[in-house]
Amino acid sequence: MRYLVTGGAGFIGSNFIRYIFNKYGADAQVVNLDKLTYAGIRENLAEYEGKPNYRFLQGDISEPADVEEAYKGIGGQGIDVVVNFAAETHVDRSLMEAGSFIRTDVHGVLVLLEEARKHAPRLKKFIQISTDEVYGSIESGSFRETDPLSPRNPYSASKCGGDRMAYAYSETYGLPVVVTRASNNYGPFQYPEKLIPLFVTNAIDDQPLPLYGDGKNVRDWLYVEDHCAAVDFLVEHGQKGEIYNIGGGNEIENIEITHRILELTGKPKSLIKPVADRQGHDRRYSLDTTKLEKLGFRTKATFEEAIVRTVDWYKQNEAWWRAIKEKSAEFKRYYEQQYGKR
Ligand code: NAD
Ligand code: TYD
Repeated sequence: MRYLVTGGAGFIGSNFIRYIFNKYGADAQVVNLDKLTYAGIRENLAEYEGKPNYRFLQGDISEPADVEEAYKGIGGQGIDVVVNFAAETHVDRSLMEAGSFIRTDVHGVLVLLEEARKHAPRLKKFIQISTDEVYGSIESGSFRETDPLSPRNPYSASKCGGDRMAYAYSETYGLPVVVTRASNNYGPFQYPEKLIPLFVTNAIDDQPLPLYGDGKNVRDWLYVEDHCAAVDFLVEHGQKGEIYNIGGGNEIENIEITHRILELTGKPKSLIKPVADRQGHDRRYSLDTTKLEKLGFRTKATFEEAIVRTVDWYKQNEAWWRAIKEKSAEFKRYYEQQYGKR
């Protein structure tokens, strides 16, 4: 299978490419199209550089020329499957500046879909990685794929645009589009701006853990390897024009995760710093995953063991996150703007 993976230098994309190579070896070819924004780290996949079945292409999904080049595949052999992970992904950053979210998460999807039309007879699947955040917040019960969408922040509104555009190209032009809506991921290589890696690395350094509001917001945590397995499963079994929720089945309050991180790093609760809430902070996300289960897929990880593995990874890979937190001027600027006055 010949894959075009976009955003493959980011957290989930790099885990997905590693998953594909581990599972299919030389039978898989992967073109990784990534703009290398602040969140893209080419070295995440250093072990595949120079291999004949891997091609890294620095480029932007909202630039037609970059996308056209990427669809050529490796040595002009073309692409069978597109998996679009590329996105601006951090809610807090979307509250500071939303233009880049529209450009990548909406317009970028359109450019990828337009190029897909040119390769339509050949293309087996176009997987649009959407998010559970497009449904908005839910006080009780769980969202099903047929529920109305009600995104409540600039990130989720942009992702909703990409989600619906991909669906529209399936309905209008018959493209083999599958849309996935996953819940919050955690695991190795997650950029240390998101809750779990930020709190683990701050705890290791005895720095405060800035907990928003009352700390009782709920997220459903999905181990990244389970997410990769689900996407791989849907490349094979996903039906054209269908949407699939991918949940972890681990709904946990932020304060509870914070306590677990402190236990696993051996640090005191006095590091917790309650700070002003995020604007428009979604209270709870929850997914009904019956549709994917009926198709035959189940997640494997339990939160109890996978959070231990995740914390261990950050303990053992300090050089990876210190290169960001201590050497990136962009990260320092962001951190100061986000937390300096909080
Ligand atoms: P990430 O921020 O770690 O990585 C995003 C990657 O996309 C980076 O490598 C970045 O350089 C690249 N990128 C950004 N703009 C680009 C552009 N215009 N052209 C090409 N590349 C570009 O994100 P992630 O957490 O790995 O998320 C991947 C996808 O999964 C996103 O679409 C996100 O919306 C979705 N998702 C994430 C989660 C989560 O919990 N992290 C949950 C559900 C869905
Ligand atoms: P995050 O990892 O940013 O993911 P998302 O907003 O996409 O769900 O945040 C997860 C939860 O943690 C969310 O309820 C916001 C909260 N949070 C904090 O309390 N403090 C922080 O510094 C961050 C980054 C997040």
